[in-house]
Amino acid sequence: MNNKLAEKFNLDKKIGIITGAAGLLGYRHADAILGAGGGVVLLDINADALKKEKEYFENLYPNAIIEIFQTDITKRADLEKVRDELLKKYKKIDILINNAANNPKMEAKSENMGAIRFHNLPLEIWNKDIAVGLTGAFLCCQVFGKVMEDNNSGVILNISSDYGVISPDQRIYRKEGLKEEEQTVKPVSYSVTKHGIIGLTKYLATYWAKNGIRVNTLCPASLFNNQPEEFVEKISKLIPMGRMSDPDEYPATILYMISSASSYMTGATVILDGGRTIW
Ligand SMILES: NC(=O)c1ccc[n+]([C@@H]2O[C@H](COP(=O)([O-])OP(=O)(O)OC[C@H]3O[C@@H](n4cnc5c(N)ncnc54)[C@H](O)[C@@H]3O)[C@@H](O)[C@H]2O)c1
Repeated sequence: MNNKLAEKFNLDKKIGIITGAAGLLGYRHADAILGAGGGVVLLDINADALKKEKEYFENLYPNAIIEIFQTDITKRADLEKVRDELLKKYKKIDILINNAANNPKMEAKSENMGAIRFHNLPLEIWNKDIAVGLTGAFLCCQVFGKVMEDNNSGVILNISSDYGVISPDQRIYRKEGLKEEEQTVKPVSYSVTKHGIIGLTKYLATYWAKNGIRVNTLCPASLFNNQPEEFVEKISKLIPMGRMSDPDEYPATILYMISSASSYMTGATVILDGGRTIW
């Protein structure tokens, strides 16, 4: 790669916030930023997981800025504390990755999975899912996006899902021998959150277009995370490439979307799904 081209991917001196940073994809966002020379601010409600993550990345990138904050992104006051701290130290925020969401796992261990149908999805679960995945992203854009607006510079990457553009095929969650009302379904709150965040992206992309802030959506899909073989087989049949994704297939696209390599891209939805949403 020529130097000029490579330079576009360089994040030297950039500060990037990642929400829900201690989860599966959070590590990939952090790796994308740190690997390109930037510093990360990792937000999560899980303090122990954050500490582990900090140690992990300090070993890989001993000279990098790695800040951790135990933060509930549904609470504006928590976010304002982080903002004030960052402004004191760095005077700016360059990147925001709105990644946190209640991500219901098909193994039915999550409280928002299991034998819950559309008609009896508890309002409390609906509210919690919207609060983290949608209201949390909205609040982060308000609090951290304002800093970018004041500096006339910034990039926001909102994390949606293939379920932000298609409906879940509930057949892949079905279990043999269970009655209809006992079958697991992906909750509607996940679909609504993931569709909604694409709307947030488009709204802010136009709202901030003249303020040097770009806002885009990445839709990851079907991440392999040791799910049961039966599930892997079922979902793979829905994917033209015939397989689930490896989480390590994401950082390159993430880096492209948060660096000046994508300087003319705003309001876009990038779908990384092995072709699932075109079938
Ligand atoms: N894993 C997948 O297959 C997949 C597929 C498509 C899209 N996505 C999306 O990618 C993103 C990350 O998914 P993941 O698999 O890494 O999820 P994950 O469940 O592994 O991580 C989510 C993280 O968010 C944190 N979190 C939850 N509530 C929070 C709050 N109120 N404040 C701060 N942090 C909070 C959790 O502690 C957790 O560490 C999500 O938006 C998800 O919807 C994931």
